Amino acid sequence: MQRIVEASKKNIQIAADIIRKGGIVAFPTETVYGLGADAFNPDAVIRIFKIKQRPEFFPLIVHISERADTQKLYKEVSPQAVSLMDKFWPGPLTIVLEKKERVPDIVTSGNNTVGVRMPSNKAGFDFIRCCGTPIAAPSANRSGSISPTDARTVFEQLGDSVDLILDAGSTEVGIESTVISLLEKPVILRPGCVPKEDIEKVIGKVNVIREEPRPFRTVTPFEFLKSSVIIPDNNNLGFLAFAEPKNLKKRFKAIEVLSAGGDLWEAGKNLFEKLHKLDKMNLDKVYMEELPEEGMGLAIMQKLRKLAVRD
Ligand code: TXA
Ligand code: MG
Repeated sequence: MQRIVEASKKNIQIAADIIRKGGIVAFPTETVYGLGADAFNPDAVIRIFKIKQRPEFFPLIVHISERADTQKLYKEVSPQAVSLMDKFWPGPLTIVLEKKERVPDIVTSGNNTVGVRMPSNKAGFDFIRCCGTPIAAPSANRSGSISPTDARTVFEQLGDSVDLILDAGSTEVGIESTVISLLEKPVILRPGCVPKEDIEKVIGKVNVIREEPRPFRTVTPFEFLKSSVIIPDNNNLGFLAFAEPKNLKKRFKAIEVLSAGGDLWEAGKNLFEKLHKLDKMNLDKVYMEELPEEGMGLAIMQKLRKLAVRD
């Protein structure tokens, strides 16, 4: 099958079908090309990380074509958010707010927030509308490369690992969307093509973040179960196992298994859900099994290492 196809009405329908079946489609937006999957299908979303060969999890922007879709994603839409949507949507502004429970953790990298935007590129917009589901999408480049602004570059970077690439020529802007959090006081998390000054005209003073946003954190301490670790005599401990554990069952009050069959991709998909589950159990400590650092294993281990370091 030809990978790059013109974003005609017929091909947009074919692309939307691929999405509904859990596939991955690269599509144009007004900023850069995105690598899209059904935001409510964790199996599809995990493939995005695989294709990008990203050694770390990161939160994905969810793309919509109708304002009503924000109801499926945000817990609540604040008046400030409404003003920004009125002014900048469709367009290159991503708004971060608290997420609904049903938004998969793999989309938000375990955070309780979700970033949403409505692209203005005609072909991209029509594609999202045709899918009938919100589309989670990072820029369609391989990890470490710059974001692609045309279909050929997407193909050069990602090749046959994408199910289809919708070609609508070069993107209009070439710089990514501005990402703003409205969780508390408005903060720009990533400066982009909507200038701060334009945003301030709508909602007043806005800050720009200087350091990395706080990564996902647990309440319970997490520690790797290395061979040197001596497990204390405590009956309130948890264990996050990679595969089905053989001889540890008696020592832990709670055990969660990332992938019974020891599959790294399945483990990646389940990671945040299992972490949240253990974190909510009021355990004194959770021990984590180390995973092989290959493929998705590297991304998982990076995330777990951050959890193990507490400040
Ligand atoms: O223009 C764009 O934004 C393009 C097109 C495809 O829409 N997308 C894009 O996605 O640049 P990506 O994944 O390359 O960058 C997403 C940015 C990251 O800086 C990420 O940390 C931030 O958005 N982001 C997304 N969701 C977030 C959330 N819930 N909380 C904090 N930051 C978030
Ligand atoms: Mg990017």
